[in-house]
Amino acid sequence: MTKLTMEKLVSYCKQYGFIYQGSEIYGGLANTWDYGPLGAKLKNNVKDSWRKRFIQERENAYEVDAAILMHPSVWEASGHVASFSDPLLDCKRCKKRLRADTLIDEFDENAKADGMTQEEMLAYIKEKQVPCPYCGASDFTDIRKFNLMFETHRGVTEDAKSKIYLRPENAQGEYVNFLNVQRTMRAKLPFSIGQVGKAFRNEITPGNFTFRTIEFEQMEYQTFCKEGTDSNLYAYFKEYAKKYFVDLGIQEEKLRYHDHEKLAHYAKEACDIEYQFNFGWGEINGTHNRTNYDLSRHEEYSKVSQSYLDPETNEKYIPYIIESTVGCDRLVLALLDNCYEEEVLENGEIREVMHFHPFLAPYKVAVLPLVKRYQGEKAKEVYQALCKAFPCSYDEAGSIGKRYRRQDAIGTPFCITIDQDTLDQETVTIRNRDTMEQVTLPLSSVQSYIEERIRFE
Ligand code: GAP
Repeated sequence: MTKLTMEKLVSYCKQYGFIYQGSEIYGGLANTWDYGPLGAKLKNNVKDSWRKRFIQERENAYEVDAAILMHPSVWEASGHVASFSDPLLDCKRCKKRLRADTLIDEFDENAKADGMTQEEMLAYIKEKQVPCPYCGASDFTDIRKFNLMFETHRGVTEDAKSKIYLRPENAQGEYVNFLNVQRTMRAKLPFSIGQVGKAFRNEITPGNFTFRTIEFEQMEYQTFCKEGTDSNLYAYFKEYAKKYFVDLGIQEEKLRYHDHEKLAHYAKEACDIEYQFNFGWGEINGTHNRTNYDLSRHEEYSKVSQSYLDPETNEKYIPYIIESTVGCDRLVLALLDNCYEEEVLENGEIREVMHFHPFLAPYKVAVLPLVKRYQGEKAKEVYQALCKAFPCSYDEAGSIGKRYRRQDAIGTPFCITIDQDTLDQETVTIRNRDTMEQVTLPLSSVQSYIEERIRFE
């Protein structure tokens, strides 16, 4: 099997309608991507799998859909205004702007820049004469902090008072609704609030396709709990997130935990789950024990008590929060990377196949008349009936072999061939994408046969 490069994955995604360059006809806008018809379906299925696993299947778990634009004090309270920044420096020779931590980690992956202060990073770069990846010189400016939040203004004036931000994370939309959800859902601790939505960061470093973009979607999940139960929940969610990825079909050996050495000021414990992308290991999920920092800060800034009255002990306290966050676009990218195969068949031919979990596949089934002229009408009838149950594709052009190959390449788990037997005996042949085996079934049982095989459990 040939190695899947990022270049190949980008071109695959474009060719089959998964992902296109953002604003392509204008030459593109760096680090933005548009999901095409198949990519949008795949991404929606990923979100549905997350909702099922994190909201539907867990007790006391509630989804919200909070506003992207929030009161600017939210970002003061959260600490984003003061410290949500990247350490940047410029190469004096080629004038490229770089992230100091990335420069160091790419120079030596054992250097662990995430544990260094700004001064330590600068000293390391000077001592090791770390070269600029673009021109090779080792002559940089000092490191400056660059805030990643996108600013905008509401109303007609553009002064400091009108300044608002595009949210850089979903989490704050969940924290500011802690009391609302607790009261309206009569929720007792521990309970969780999750949200799927867009976040925006003014990233300047090259993105590795959709891995690092300036606009992306997060599936964030906050579990509010009593101090003392926090570390057990933290360990639980580290496992829970990993199992979710494995159940979606990601190979376990391509996943690893990365415990943080340098913790954010609010965190007691923090760990990423990384996936081995074709460009190297990259974070797809983070589990954080955020203590009672967030709610305490919102209490301080909003002057609204964020305390919970424990009905069992009558104690009043500010809950701890365990956060489990998944980057939706990064998970989609990991799945594309993980599921793609160029399989060498017995006859030496290469079959391009996307082994998506059937729940994630954009189309669950393709309906293919063997000969359009004879079976086209019946095939359309079958297609229209099945479309009511799940997304189907219909293809009548070209040889049956070529049509199978196209469906394999986009990850359709089943193909139904409508042939003379369908007309004579109401039976169809169903072909399995992964094994290429075919079974014959009565037409009446096709829907339930597929429904049983596309579930995510
Ligand atoms: N509320 C916590 C939080 O936002 P984070 O580690 O900064 O934590 C969470 O982001 C997840 O969002 C990451 O694990 C990653 O999957 C995704 N993510 C972060 N920045 C991203 C970017 N620029 N492009 C795409 N995904 C990103």
